Amino acid sequence: MTSSGREWDTEGQEKRVALVTGGNRGIGLEIGSQLSRLGYRVVLTARDGRRADEAAETLDGWASGDVAGVSMDVTDDESVRAGFEQAVKLFGAVDVLVNNAGIAIDGPEHRASAPDLDKVHKTLETNLFGAWRCAREAIPLMRGRGYGRIVNLSSTMASLELTGTPSSPAYRISKAGLNMLTKVLAAELQYDGILVNAASPGYTRTDMSPDAERPVEEGADTPVWLATLPDDGPTGGFFFDRKRLSW
Ligand SMILES: NC(=O)c1ccc[n+]([C@@H]2O[C@H](COP(=O)([O-])OP(=O)(O)OC[C@H]3O[C@@H](n4cnc5c(N)ncnc54)[C@H](OP(=O)(O)O)[C@@H]3O)[C@@H](O)[C@H]2O)c1
Repeated sequence: MTSSGREWDTEGQEKRVALVTGGNRGIGLEIGSQLSRLGYRVVLTARDGRRADEAAETLDGWASGDVAGVSMDVTDDESVRAGFEQAVKLFGAVDVLVNNAGIAIDGPEHRASAPDLDKVHKTLETNLFGAWRCAREAIPLMRGRGYGRIVNLSSTMASLELTGTPSSPAYRISKAGLNMLTKVLAAELQYDGILVNAASPGYTRTDMSPDAERPVEEGADTPVWLATLPDDGPTGGFFFDRKRLSW
């Protein structure tokens, strides 16, 4: 550890720092866990700072001081700003942002023709604006180091081409917006060393999808792959099981 908070591995490579939003449970916690095992320094953020700390303590890198919990509500500008400030204070950088925090509060019966606009606003505020706020904080840090990876947790339910049913319009629209955010950020940042991609984890067993069969280890695989891409890796893509998914 140095006074800047940055740290190097045994081969002299600087350890990358990954910040995962909504990292206290589900797919986010598993992404943090896999990144920690790959040697990344990991900041797990959660709305409740105590739960962030408890989750961080379960990861491999905790004992060596390479994992930390930080409080962050992605719907709140000041909370996001303070969370990034804390991450930089702890580890000196944010090289990887995984926009994982998400909610699915409009059920399969919700219809776009009779919208509960309160639910729509809440969903967009978390799934789209939450990710956007975090990107706004992360990008100057990444630009300063000429390196960055941004991974947005999207869904096959956001695919314009694959969607043929009217269910859960707020969730679908929030993630379709996130997909476009992925495309425009990727275009803007293509000469800055920052790769921006969207991942569908698949229908994965978590609190959000308790009936799903897919384990979190599989749901986290594609986001982790995108978080750890080499410099010549893809940008502006939408992936499921490491393969391109139709927008
Ligand atoms: N599971 C699936 O089948 C599936 C499929 C496609 C896409 N996804 C996407 O994958 C991501 C992770 O889903 P999951 O299944 O792991 O869901 P989950 O178990 O419900 O976890 C969601 C996480 O997001 C956090 N969160 C929600 N609102 C937040 C806010 N305002 N600020 C900060 N954190 C917030 C939650 O924190 P709290 O504990 O504080 O609530 C929790 O840590 C989501 O973006 C989801 O849309 C999931």
